Amino acid sequence: MKKKIVILPGDGIGTEICEQAVKVLQKTGDLLGYTFDLEHEIAGGACIDKHGIPLQDSTLEKCKHADAVLLGAVGGPKWEGLDFSVRPERALLKLRSELQLYANLRPAIIYSELADASTLKREVLEGADILVIRELTGGIYFGKPRGVKIEDGKRVGFNTLIYNEDEIRRIARTAFEAAMKRRKKVCSVDKANVLESTELWRTVVTEEHKNYPEIELSHMYIDNAVMQVIRNPRQFDTVVTTNMFGDILSDACAMITGSIGMLPSASVGGKNGMYEPVHGSAPDIAGQNIANPLATILSVGMMFKYSFGDNNAYEMIERAVKIAISTHRTKDIMDTGKIETGILSKPRTGRPPSRKSGGSDR
Ligand code: NAD
Ligand code: IPM
Ligand code: MN
Repeated sequence: MKKKIVILPGDGIGTEICEQAVKVLQKTGDLLGYTFDLEHEIAGGACIDKHGIPLQDSTLEKCKHADAVLLGAVGGPKWEGLDFSVRPERALLKLRSELQLYANLRPAIIYSELADASTLKREVLEGADILVIRELTGGIYFGKPRGVKIEDGKRVGFNTLIYNEDEIRRIARTAFEAAMKRRKKVCSVDKANVLESTELWRTVVTEEHKNYPEIELSHMYIDNAVMQVIRNPRQFDTVVTTNMFGDILSDACAMITGSIGMLPSASVGGKNGMYEPVHGSAPDIAGQNIANPLATILSVGMMFKYSFGDNNAYEMIERAVKIAISTHRTKDIMDTGKIETGILSKPRTGRPPSRKSGGSDR
């Protein structure tokens, strides 16, 4: 089987983690009889530095014609002052929108080996397995009007949260279909008590539910949902939510996996898929060779599963990850007790990652 894959390492740790993930891609391909035509392209800050724009049309065209795209991460403090239209993050948003990747699957699973690496207690985490399905091409990320204007002599910033019923229905369907293959429970997360757009969200999800009588549907407000995934993650199976709520909720879910460095994602719904870790370019640890590549490696697993229909390859990669973490770890998933007894290998270089938030635009 021959597959054409575009690799967009991006910025910061993006290049480090993609290098490792491509090794796993190649090895899996060798074992299972794939040959890959890999095209490495620049995107994000790296592309701004070279061409003045975050994504070249030629790169977008290549992505449209590839079987799949693997992306590291884009962005960083160097480009934060730029106009929104040419920020690194626009590359990502343009790819999602142009490739029509309206469904972002973010599975948060705790591997038992890592239950002591999370800041949450083992007894809270053990057995947790949540699939967050984030709407990815609509909502406040893309709604118009948007911008900053002067009104009565004051600067006013504005964005628009907008969803039409078709956009809601198709992501609801994605969630119900996914849940049918899981534990048949969907929790739809909104802010229907305050926002009309998400009141419509709740209405349409409820309407679509009539086609899936076997599914148990519940609704939750986003503020409560962020609290509940930390309080008792095992209560959730499949979660479906809007673009921005999904962005926030999935970073909270990262602590179920032990670290944001463990959370992979698949963006699907169009002709081909894009695969990327949930985390960003981690400027605070970039260049030190201490970034956790497993979220990107597991994203490669998701590429096999969702773009090539090869669940066997996905499971092989997941098994390899579990074997690797039983003896080798990056510092973000170290279990303190074991570091002291020296059982686990230490990263080759650098100091431990700072856990403080980068405080940047996500
Ligand atoms: P971040 O996810 O880059 O980092 C948050 C924290 O998690 C940092 O302390 C970082 O060191 C740590 N971390 C993240 N990934 C890690 C890994 N693989 N291994 C170990 N530790 C890891 O979020 P941020 O600091 O808010 O954003 C930094 C930049 O990344 C911004 O420019 C933002 O826009 C961009 N970003 C890009 C993507 C993407 O390309 N998909 C996603 C999120 C943020
Ligand atoms: C993510 C990121 C992106 C988002 C940014 C970098 C545009 O935070 O993929 O989670 O907000 O979607
Ligand atoms: Mn995010």
